[in-house]
Amino acid sequence: MEQVFVDGMVAEPLVVFREWMAAAEASEPNDANAVALATATREGSPSVRMVLMKRVDERGFAFYTNAESQKGRELDENPQAAMCFHWKTLRRQVRVEGTVTRLPAADADAYFHSRSRGSQRAAVASAQSRPLASREELEAKVRELEAAYPGEIPRPAHWLGYVLRPERIEFWQDGAHRLHDRMAFVRRGEGWEGVRLNP
Ligand SMILES: Cc1cc2nc3c(=O)[nH]c(=O)nc-3n(C[C@H](O)[C@H](O)[C@H](O)COP(=O)(O)O)c2cc1C
Repeated sequence: MEQVFVDGMVAEPLVVFREWMAAAEASEPNDANAVALATATREGSPSVRMVLMKRVDERGFAFYTNAESQKGRELDENPQAAMCFHWKTLRRQVRVEGTVTRLPAADADAYFHSRSRGSQRAAVASAQSRPLASREELEAKVRELEAAYPGEIPRPAHWLGYVLRPERIEFWQDGAHRLHDRMAFVRRGEGWEGVRLNP
């Protein structure tokens, strides 16, 4: 295979991704790790929303959410998902496609307890994606939790980490006169096969 380079780096897509993420963290005004996450029902009806991508390693791209939310339910019935990062300051996009699995409970525990007490309370109080009669109902739940758990707030069993194992990663860099650069990588056995695409 022709050796592919992106920005002069050898094309190991996770290495390139980390490089781009570091650049985005330095230049974006906030939440460089915000990413659109697309899921779909068993029948293939899609939905998309933003999440925070908290870690990337050899397992893939990790995020945390409520397993009983719309995305959680869709992932239960259809583990195929896609992510799209867009860094406006850098005029870059990264697209990722693959299969999502749940991370072990110990991972969710570690991350849950690393968050602020306010974030923990909100995660417990919110029946994410289900109807809420009023803002007051949610705030009352938060007050009840505060009284019930003066110490550590336990992680609800449905608040979980997930990891998207990439089968395909594509890097897009804005180019002059709309001559953008697109480099796509598809998993091939232990490695990746890269190809340059028309913009
Ligand atoms: C920048 C940004 C980051 C977000 N990060 C998360 C996240 O990490 N986890 C999460 O459950 N929701 C996150 N949300 C809220 C989701 O976009 C969404 O409203 C919620 O998860 C319910 O989605 P669902 O009904 O499709 O399951 C974030 C929203 C924004 C705008």
